[in-house]
Amino acid sequence: MKALFRKVDSYERLSQLAALEIKKKIQKGNQVNLGLPTGDTPIGMYKELVNDSQLDWWNVSTFNLDEYIEISIDHPESYQNFMNRNLFDHIDIDKFNIWFPHLVNDYDGMIDGLGGLDLTILGIGSNGHIAFNEPNSPFDSKTRIVDLDEQTIEDNARFFNSIDEVPTKAITMGLDTIMKSKEILLIAQGKKKLDIIQTAMFGDITEEIPASILQNHENLTILYCE
Ligand code: GLP
Repeated sequence: MKALFRKVDSYERLSQLAALEIKKKIQKGNQVNLGLPTGDTPIGMYKELVNDSQLDWWNVSTFNLDEYIEISIDHPESYQNFMNRNLFDHIDIDKFNIWFPHLVNDYDGMIDGLGGLDLTILGIGSNGHIAFNEPNSPFDSKTRIVDLDEQTIEDNARFFNSIDEVPTKAITMGLDTIMKSKEILLIAQGKKKLDIIQTAMFGDITEEIPASILQNHENLTILYCE
């Protein structure tokens, strides 16, 4: 494992550093393909990017990690809406360069055809999921529709009026799709996340803990704050 683990002292710092990694890629000026997450953790990072009015998005394509199935795209909690609200509505990016897994038949083929993901930002679920690859997802999985784990439904209930409204299915990039990204940055906040990060990074590499596959990645950084 060649992971770099960085604990920082505030969420603000974590957000700044995560945004900086994205900015560095964009400012090189070459075509850049970003894998992007949702959840609470990346909100600060997106704010940092929005606040940088100098950042030129002309050379950027984005590929979101996942999207709920069974809710309308207009639902405030659809991931497409989340991304519009937190990032896309506020930056000058070509709408034709914004991609979600439910919009494309062969997401993996498309990503490969465009040269692969250069940098993928991940969060981590309390059960060790990355994107919506729940425990026991195959390590060689590609983009597909999955059933959400009980734990994930409980964790994500906070975004909905009641737990019954939480979708039970989603479409997600696979673990193989994510592992092919040239660089991965995992961001996590809170003591609860530290336990699962430790299990995933220092325990057995097992499909029961999907994030444990990241131990095999050659260019992984973990940014954490309490
Ligand atoms: C959802 C997303 C994941 C994300 C996770 C953690 O389940 N599908 O991609 O990593 O939430 O989110 P949070 O940052 O809110 O803990």
